[in-house]
Amino acid sequence: MNRILVVGAGGQLGRALCARKGTDGVEIVGLTRGELDITDLAQVRAALDRRPCSAIVNAAAYTAVDRAESDAAAAFAINRDGPQNLAVAAAEHGIPLLQVSTDYVFDGRSDRAYSETDPVGPAGVYGASKLAGEEAVRAAQPRHVILRTSWVYAASTGNFVATMLRLAGGRPELRVVDDQRGGPTEAGAIADALLAIAGQLDQGDPWGTYHFSGAPAVTWCGFAREIVARAAPWLQRLPTVTPIRTADYPTPARRPANSELDCRRIEAQFGIRQPDWQATLSTVVETILRGTGDISRNAS
Ligand SMILES: NC(=O)c1ccc[n+]([C@@H]2O[C@H](COP(=O)([O-])OP(=O)(O)OC[C@H]3O[C@@H](n4cnc5c(N)ncnc54)[C@H](OP(=O)(O)O)[C@@H]3O)[C@@H](O)[C@H]2O)c1
Repeated sequence: MNRILVVGAGGQLGRALCARKGTDGVEIVGLTRGELDITDLAQVRAALDRRPCSAIVNAAAYTAVDRAESDAAAAFAINRDGPQNLAVAAAEHGIPLLQVSTDYVFDGRSDRAYSETDPVGPAGVYGASKLAGEEAVRAAQPRHVILRTSWVYAASTGNFVATMLRLAGGRPELRVVDDQRGGPTEAGAIADALLAIAGQLDQGDPWGTYHFSGAPAVTWCGFAREIVARAAPWLQRLPTVTPIRTADYPTPARRPANSELDCRRIEAQFGIRQPDWQATLSTVVETILRGTGDISRNAS
């Protein structure tokens, strides 16, 4: 049996995974939050009993970084207790768990790309709750892969690319933080990486933590400039993109200045290379602007 259960199927990554239904002989069963609440262990067990599968991918998360600062109970319930429930149920059913995590487990003070063995130290509640989820998974199911990724976007609403495009249509100037750098990562590339990993879990000793993010690293301001440039054919007037400092744009949550992830381990173990976000950004921008992606479904 080669059936993967994707929980959190309604999110950016969950939708990208479900869009790969049926590829390479893999059956993907996607359950949205309405169909399975991962904070409820009984629901998780029942879902696995009903639909036996060969692996679970957890694409569910509480991702509202600023809201988490004042909503820690919900963030920890979803980002720590949810993965723990999945890991417990996966161990009971003898199947592996693929957990998705974040660059925000690091404090961002390093001057080089973070490797999997670097010390963690989240700067905010969201990162702390995701780190707690990692630890819960490690404790409950040794047969796990934790994939840390960063700056996720897709051709849908609720991400940096879509926000920049919306603002670019109506403002003469976009002021964007230029002292936080990281790797923008398209949800489809993460989905491909997870499925490639799932296909190699019977080879050697694949268990553990891996980094996976888009390259090259860029600041938010640099990324915004690229987005606006790709949107130029659709815009009547191009906004100016002005670099600002994090201190000029206060937010409830502190964000890491350096989010760059060293992705050599995933390439050595699974042959998965960092995706070049510059190669695919135009397609995502065009899909959003034409309203042909799932943005048209989400926009209300
Ligand atoms: N977004 C980023 O920039 C980023 C960066 C680094 C790492 N990541 C990680 O990448 C993964 C995927 O993120 P994403 O961008 O796809 O997130 P997303 O678009 O916010 O999707 C998360 C999904 O999880 C669902 N969910 C929330 N609570 C749930 C629960 N109790 N049970 C089941 N489902 C639940 C949400 O449903 P509702 O919408 O109904 O609440 C939503 O559909 C997450 O692990 C995230 O931490 C994301």
